[in-house]
Amino acid sequence: MRIGVLTGGGDCPGLNAVIRAVVRKGIKAHGWEIVGFRNGWQGPIENLTKSIDLADVEEILTRGGTILGSSRTNPYKVEGGVDRIRETIAANNIDAIIAIGGEDTLGVAKRLTDDGIGVVGVPKTIDNDLGATDYTFGFDTAVHIATEAIDRLRTTAESHHRALVVEVMGRHAGWIALHSGLAGGANVILVPERPFSVDKVVEWVERRFESEFAPIIVVAEGAMPEGGAEVLHSGERDAFGHVRLGGVGQWLAEEIADRTGKESRAAILGHIQRGGTPTAYDRVLATRFGLHAVDAVAAGDFGTMVALRGTDIVRVKLSEATAELKTVPTERYEEAEVFFGA
Ligand code: F6P
Repeated sequence: MRIGVLTGGGDCPGLNAVIRAVVRKGIKAHGWEIVGFRNGWQGPIENLTKSIDLADVEEILTRGGTILGSSRTNPYKVEGGVDRIRETIAANNIDAIIAIGGEDTLGVAKRLTDDGIGVVGVPKTIDNDLGATDYTFGFDTAVHIATEAIDRLRTTAESHHRALVVEVMGRHAGWIALHSGLAGGANVILVPERPFSVDKVVEWVERRFESEFAPIIVVAEGAMPEGGAEVLHSGERDAFGHVRLGGVGQWLAEEIADRTGKESRAAILGHIQRGGTPTAYDRVLATRFGLHAVDAVAAGDFGTMVALRGTDIVRVKLSEATAELKTVPTERYEEAEVFFGA
């Protein structure tokens, strides 16, 4: 058999660990040939391939990013995209594809399966917002990086008696903000799932300033003040309609300074959260996902995604995984509120 592998969407620590596991198990347990497609779905559309052998995955376990490259290309938005994928599959004698990606990449995987192309999905995103799996790999690494940043920002904030707003990734879901905020002992955590009251934030910040410690505010990039994006004084959105990175964190730091009369700074972590080596947890999770994706292909169980349930790796329908984003439930957010303010 010849199996295609691709990585789509934003890169994520652990992608190479999945590729390594797929290649090793595919070749050693099944005698398959593995063909890498470059740059997500752009690879099968444009017949951009890279054969990957055992030697190619020898030293990639610890490396961040993806040796295959990534993109957000969607074949259903490209003229003749699906037909071109069929042509590439025929030209390369591909029997099935393992697609490693988030909601968009796996949404395409689901539609391709419906259109008769055999795809197995592997869930990936630092945002941890994919349905039907307890965790995605990359999330643990992102939370570690954000937590370390919070620890470092706290000491400089305390030295200067400043409020420090730490903006982390998460356009639609606040998992990174919630977990790094809890791990870093933040005094305020703001998530996209719940519009925040600036008055309330200022109250928490002032209470914290009454102690000798500095207020740390962790805000997800997609968090919005009550009233929505137009309240942000830039309110700027990119071509995809997302509030620009840096928007809410900088805005909030300025609001806090204006309203409290205290110095305030913003630190925008941005892509630092996505780069570099995966944590041990993510390496293990990614490796297990890769091994189980090979099992799913061997069983001909297409249209499925490997998923973590408790400590087990199971298979779920791609339709279930992509039905809706997994956002932070209200009760999980409210658990954290006891730590807000002083
Ligand atoms: O989905 C992963 C993610 O890192 C989000 O947290 C973030 O909003 C987005 O990707 C950034 O995308 P890009 O790398 O295209 O700027």
